[in-house]
Amino acid sequence: MNISIVGAGYLGLTTASVLAAAGHKVYCVDIKPEIIDQINSGNPHFYEPGLEALLKGDISNKNLIATLDYSEAISNSEISFICVDTPSSENGELSIRAVEASAKSIAENLNDNHIVVLKSTVPVGTAKKIKSLIYQTTSNEFHYASNPEFLAEGSSVFDTLLPDRIIIGTDSDFAYKKIYDVFNQVDIFAKKSPSEGGYDGELIKDNNRSQFFYEKPFEQRVQNVSISSAELIKMTANSFLATKISFANAIANICDKTGANVTEVMNGIGADPRIGRDFLYAGLGWGGGCFPKDVLGLIRNSENLGYDFEILKAAKSTNDRQTKFSTDKIKDLLGDDLSGKTISILGLSFKPGTSDIRVSPSINLITALSPIVESIRVFDPKAMDNGREYLKDLPNIEFSNSTAEVVEESSLVVLATDWPEFINLDFNMVKEQMSELNLFDGRNRWNKNLVEKLGFRYYGVGV
Ligand code: UGA
Repeated sequence: MNISIVGAGYLGLTTASVLAAAGHKVYCVDIKPEIIDQINSGNPHFYEPGLEALLKGDISNKNLIATLDYSEAISNSEISFICVDTPSSENGELSIRAVEASAKSIAENLNDNHIVVLKSTVPVGTAKKIKSLIYQTTSNEFHYASNPEFLAEGSSVFDTLLPDRIIIGTDSDFAYKKIYDVFNQVDIFAKKSPSEGGYDGELIKDNNRSQFFYEKPFEQRVQNVSISSAELIKMTANSFLATKISFANAIANICDKTGANVTEVMNGIGADPRIGRDFLYAGLGWGGGCFPKDVLGLIRNSENLGYDFEILKAAKSTNDRQTKFSTDKIKDLLGDDLSGKTISILGLSFKPGTSDIRVSPSINLITALSPIVESIRVFDPKAMDNGREYLKDLPNIEFSNSTAEVVEESSLVVLATDWPEFINLDFNMVKEQMSELNLFDGRNRWNKNLVEKLGFRYYGVGV
């Protein structure tokens, strides 16, 4: 099928690359010329495992064309997916300005019976605004659907190849069938062997979620729902997951006060299939480009509808307090006066597997510590460029080149982002480099007994 993807960010470029690899002809539209050039040369403008290989293949077999030109893209497509950002506006509501601008540009180039699909995360009720905007711009017939996306950074190629669910919110049978076909073709590609032209990357083989989705037939993963339900499913999913993490972090505080261990408690409750173990890992808190904005967005969306979403407000404030709890712990370890201390921070990205530092708990901690310590050394395997740019105004940040370098002459090493190379640290090496042996495990990933035996003082989050 000929498809336009509007917006070439994490969501848009990943979706475009996977759809093109599955055999669709994809036009990827963005308003930034430098991104377009980069994509057309086969290079993603952010790090995402498995993406570059797919994109390079798509460019060489000419299944993907990145363009600034809406008319080239839309007039050659049957279906357009809007995948642009919906950042927080000043009052915390999700801003749909870019969605409206994209819808207008699509409408200006619309062919009859075109299907407009909104993938971006939006407040419930957005469809009405977008549909009326398109009606005002064109007299051509069109179909509308909401098809929210659940891909997570760091696993977004896998999530797009083998999604756990495909939500299609539409009242048009025509649109439903076409969208079904678009993703069914992806499913076939994901499951076919490479020798038959299927996906030949490592991601599916290595992912422990694969088996489940391999075995669950595609049609059982598709849900046809109303447009409003589809819009709300996305905001609800992110808000619920964020609430789960905040719940674990709240229990971690009780553990710190009682000697209980949050990992043991979460293993205990997570074994109940009604609860599940996922997203119950205590730590520095949740961040990223999605949870913080979507949680606040749903709080504001509810307020506008006359409902005070107290549970979600509590989940948010629990998360907001995590940085303060962390600096308090650091003071417990090093003493109240940190002015002569050098602290090493392992990780800048908001989670492993990505170069994204948006609302990163690590960055929040660095920003809180910077005014009260002598210096902070930082290292991240993928997010150094973003970190350098974001932290450039803080005077006492040193950017290291390796894990070995970042721990040198340090009074405390903090695990802020649980990249594998930080989890599997060589603590004998670390011991030789540090000036005082203190560890703060902000992701509960290190073996407390082992590091204590080596002579470190260890603090975790509720362990
Ligand atoms: C999230 C959702 O997981 C995706 O399903 C959704 O599609 C996406 O937002 C989106 O709206 O686009 P993402 O922001 O990539 O994906 O990151 P997550 O893996 O959900 O992690 C969010 C934060 O929670 C990270 O800071 C992570 O370190 C933290 N986290 C996660 C915990 O602190 N504990 C956990 O147990 C799990």
